[in-house]
Amino acid sequence: MAEHPAYPVGLRLTGRKVVVLGGGQVAQRRLPALIAAGGDILLVSPTATPSVEAMVDAGELTWEKRPYAEGDLADAWYALIATSDTEANTLASAEAERHRVWCVRADDADAATAWTPATGTSEGVTVAVLTSDAKGRDPRHTAAIRDAVVEGLRDGTLVAPHHRTRTPGVALVGGGPGDPDLITVRGRRLLAEADVVITDHLGPRDLLAELPQGVEVIDAAKLPYGRFMAQEAINDALIEHARKGRSVVRLKGGDPFVYGRGMEEVQALAEAGIPCTVVPGISSSISVPGAAGIPVTHRGVAHEFTVVSGHIAPDDERSLVDWSALARLTGTLVILMGVGTIGKVAETLIAHGKSPDTPVALVQEGTTAAQRRVDATLATVAETVVAEEIKPPAVIVIGEVVTVGPNPSK
Ligand SMILES: C[S@@+](CC[C@H](N)C(=O)[O-])C[C@H]1O[C@@H](n2cnc3c(N)ncnc32)[C@H](O)[C@@H]1O
Repeated sequence: MAEHPAYPVGLRLTGRKVVVLGGGQVAQRRLPALIAAGGDILLVSPTATPSVEAMVDAGELTWEKRPYAEGDLADAWYALIATSDTEANTLASAEAERHRVWCVRADDADAATAWTPATGTSEGVTVAVLTSDAKGRDPRHTAAIRDAVVEGLRDGTLVAPHHRTRTPGVALVGGGPGDPDLITVRGRRLLAEADVVITDHLGPRDLLAELPQGVEVIDAAKLPYGRFMAQEAINDALIEHARKGRSVVRLKGGDPFVYGRGMEEVQALAEAGIPCTVVPGISSSISVPGAAGIPVTHRGVAHEFTVVSGHIAPDDERSLVDWSALARLTGTLVILMGVGTIGKVAETLIAHGKSPDTPVALVQEGTTAAQRRVDATLATVAETVVAEEIKPPAVIVIGEVVTVGPNPSK
């Protein structure tokens, strides 16, 4: 049977009966795709793994708690035979053959009439990889090829030039804290498809080097509107390039909506009638402490964490932060943009009752090769910042969580 290569085909299972024999690990792995394909699934098995049971509880399939019995496959369109009983599997695959039901057999690929390819999806395309004969079947090899193709499609390194799906308008992409591997898969793909990329000084700068030739990169901090590009000028640039029919990526550090002025750009684009998609990013507020060995919450230590901007000092009349309320919280305080004001912040927290011994960690350039962590307390942090020459960007963590893990910089 295996002398010829398998014939690849896509089964349209919506509403059609699929019988799965055995509720173990194989069924657990295969069921999600069968459910996603809309199959009317009957599981026949005396037992099932907790995950399979959860699918039954969610109403995604019907479960008959019993062993296989002759006749189970009679009106099936497709069957997966994966019990731990070889004899039952043999009887079931003989029944499938008699009723001409295509069937996968987990314990014997040679005896099966169908093989499950290694599959993955990206942007509406399903990639399915099969080896051509049963003898050469190596599931790890097919899975590796599948991974290479799907990953290439997702991150844009594998592009079909004439069928490139471009997202019209502007994509506001959160680039993560700095390590180029910490952007989302969607963000990376949109970057690879962009005609124009407007960036900030924070975020994964290394990714810019990977952009295809001909992509226009605009450094938002360097446009001729003073040292920092006025937000209005950024909005204008986004609108101008999108109106020329280009795919524009606005690449931001961390998440676009965490002190990123992302919504101002969304609003400006909406007013100009330009479609905008927002791709979340990993915010430095959680990931940078994590990269330095600090969990923002920890069982029995901190049940909440609060992210605060330190860019305006507590005694400044423009401050919107209730520092006395923050001083009363028992959880973790994460301060962004606070290197210049941390002395006043520490003073204010102590004045409102926070212990001067509260641990503090300063994490500079988190997740990059230059990452540095310096520890202090509320009482000493002002002098530590000066003595250790801490420079932005840095995330400051205040609270007992600072001391719960091993300090990787020690
Ligand atoms: C304007 S805010 C933008 C925050 C960003 N949207 C986010 O979600 O991470 C910039 C501040 O984020 C923090 N920050 C961003 N990336 C950082 C990194 N790699 N290491 C340390 N702090 C970082 C610093 O506090 C910096 O001053």
